[in-house]
Amino acid sequence: MNSRVALITGITGQDGGFLAQLLLDKGYEVHGMRRRSSSAEDGHDRLGESGLMQRVHLHYGDMTDPASIIRVVRDARPDEIYNLAAQSHVKVSFENPAYTAQVNALGCLHLLEAIRLLDMVKSARFYQASTSELYGDADEMPQRETTVFRPRSPYAISKHFALLTTINYREAYDLHASNGILFNHEGKTRGESFVTRKITRAAAAWSAGNRKPLALGNLNARRDWGDARDYVRGMWLMLQQAAPDDYVLATGESRTVRQFVEAAFATIGVQIDWRGEGAGEIGVDTRSGDAAVVVDPQFFRPAEISHLVGDATRARQKLGWRPEVSFERMVREMVEADVARLRGHAR
Ligand code: NAP
Ligand code: GDD
Repeated sequence: MNSRVALITGITGQDGGFLAQLLLDKGYEVHGMRRRSSSAEDGHDRLGESGLMQRVHLHYGDMTDPASIIRVVRDARPDEIYNLAAQSHVKVSFENPAYTAQVNALGCLHLLEAIRLLDMVKSARFYQASTSELYGDADEMPQRETTVFRPRSPYAISKHFALLTTINYREAYDLHASNGILFNHEGKTRGESFVTRKITRAAAAWSAGNRKPLALGNLNARRDWGDARDYVRGMWLMLQQAAPDDYVLATGESRTVRQFVEAAFATIGVQIDWRGEGAGEIGVDTRSGDAAVVVDPQFFRPAEISHLVGDATRARQKLGWRPEVSFERMVREMVEADVARLRGHAR
């Protein structure tokens, strides 16, 4: 029986749920930090939906409240700490840049300071949820650990601070601290305002006869989309290594938003034909002739990243990590989960 204790900040998020499930399956005692929400009482959130509510130890805390973080770390006494909490929406970060920095940048610093102040530098291992957003419009394709960072959003800049701070604690205090530079990863509990989940929910609604077109922003953006279950396994593997390091996790394949739309609608048997261009472009259901997708400039970003695709060679060689879930399977399972939710039996 495993007696290790893990603490996950951001346990109510997509990755927090998948990681908690993985660690519970491995026999960990799992603690999670959550902030109070009036709309998610009684487990009516992703934790409740995934059935994890009763199986993890939940502590109230907030990344903007350093004392609360110290209290949670002191009470949980974790062997492994996964810092997943973040204001994680890139577009929202342009609207709330200071808050994004407080949560993502200073929040990470508060957590690292808590480890130091509680004399846990030698006993605890630390994972920081870093991101491919750091690369911005990179001049290297695909991007790897050595590619120059050119962050292009308040979100990416805040995550850059957190990455550098994590490296600093590793070098200055010998903390076993690793950054996972993760490319986009999705799943059935993905937040509803991220593009993949917007699309899979729209495909599910379309299959149920709701003919309201889905409004999207930049259809040309290319992302390297993997399955979140593979990525949380990679996070865990990083903390099982003798020495800490920073790792890219990615599939090595990239697709446009337009291609994601096509794949999701294909799952419900609908072929999409693209007509027009720019803000006037529409995606038409070839069978009915109805517009299933329209472009709405409100979803454009002040600064966009046109193409992210990662090279996970280091993770493959040192961690033995490689993605197992195909793009097609991931999209199909996301759409199926949204169809099931619409029919009233969530899974
Ligand atoms: P997510 O679904 O947006 O979850 C974010 C989590 O952080 C939620 O549990 C949220 O709580 C919590 N949180 C936000 N502000 C907080 C605060 N002030 N105090 C305490 N908790 C707070 O994100 P995700 O997709 O699971 O991603 C997990 C982490 O990986 C994030 O740090 C993200 O930036 C990073 N990342 C994600 C991807 C990806 O493709 N998914 C790729 C690279 C990096 P509420 O439920 O209360 O909002
Ligand atoms: N959200 C959203 N909504 N994005 C849209 C839309 C839309 O209606 N239409 C087009 N897009 C484009 C965005 O402009 C972006 O280029 C791409 O779809 C992906 O957007 P998101 O799904 O919001 O993800 P992201 O790539 O900006 O950020 C996610 O991945 C990062 C890793 O690269 C988040 O999970 C970040 O937290 C994470 O760090």
